[in-house]
Amino acid sequence: MNVLEVHDLRKTFGGFHAVDGVSFNVEKGSIHAVIGPNGAGKTTLFNLVSGHLRPTTGKVSFDGADITGKTPDVLARMGMTRAFQITTIFPKLSVLDSVECSVNARKRQAASLWPWRRQAARDEALKLLEAVGLAEFRDEIANTLSHGDQRTLEVALALATEPRLLLLDEPTAGMSPFETRHMVALVQDLARSRGVTVLFCEHDIGTVFSISDRVTVMHRGQVIADGAPEVVRKDQHVIDVYIGKQDYGSKVQGGGLKK
Ligand SMILES: Nc1ncnc2c1ncn2[C@@H]1O[C@H](COP(=O)(O)OP(=O)(O)O)[C@@H](O)[C@H]1O
Ligand SMILES: [Mg+2]
Repeated sequence: MNVLEVHDLRKTFGGFHAVDGVSFNVEKGSIHAVIGPNGAGKTTLFNLVSGHLRPTTGKVSFDGADITGKTPDVLARMGMTRAFQITTIFPKLSVLDSVECSVNARKRQAASLWPWRRQAARDEALKLLEAVGLAEFRDEIANTLSHGDQRTLEVALALATEPRLLLLDEPTAGMSPFETRHMVALVQDLARSRGVTVLFCEHDIGTVFSISDRVTVMHRGQVIADGAPEVVRKDQHVIDVYIGKQDYGSKVQGGGLKK
């Protein structure tokens, strides 16, 4: 069963086709990666799916409902959330307070109105921090965390909205190999233990092939391959435009193939 269906999606910026007729489906419960070289249109595609940009033409369906053009807050209430950079939302709050805010936003309640509600939100926030491995940093200020821990906190903030579909734009970008492995394990845990469908785009294809159930490859705004990782990695077109140019496996496997 498909949780997300993207049909012939296009986004034009002043005559430039950033996303140029993209169609693909995301199966419920899967970890689905969108890969492609820089400028391929991955982030634009994510912005179209998550409601941060309006498509020029095309259609997006979520759980069978047409969600084309719906705003991110409406989509979050429907169960689709995209992780956003903590530094742009709660830079000065403590780690626990940030997650509590996100829990309250879902419950649509102000933080301190009712003490027992506040305690329930705090308990839930702490559980989420334990689940992502950040409980020990609960009292730290969010923007003082390491880069990897901030990205992990962003996932916790997104999880606080209780998504069925979680969108992550390059979750391991700028991470060390250690941080990357932690993020990879977290994404796998979300999908396998919590049943959250994860759609993520990624530049580092070592990460992608190690965890994805399905991979969609973009190049110049179009899908050039879509299928199981073991099929996609052998696709000659994909090798020509992308894989052949990558330091494949560099982060997850702790050493690239190229010297
Ligand atoms: N708001 C915008 N205005 C004009 N061009 C844009 C805009 N956003 C993205 N682009 C262009 O669209 C192309 C795809 O960008 P992007 O979706 O960020 O690719 P990726 O995430 O795969 O690196 C790039 O050539 C980029 O310069
Ligand atoms: Mg991008």
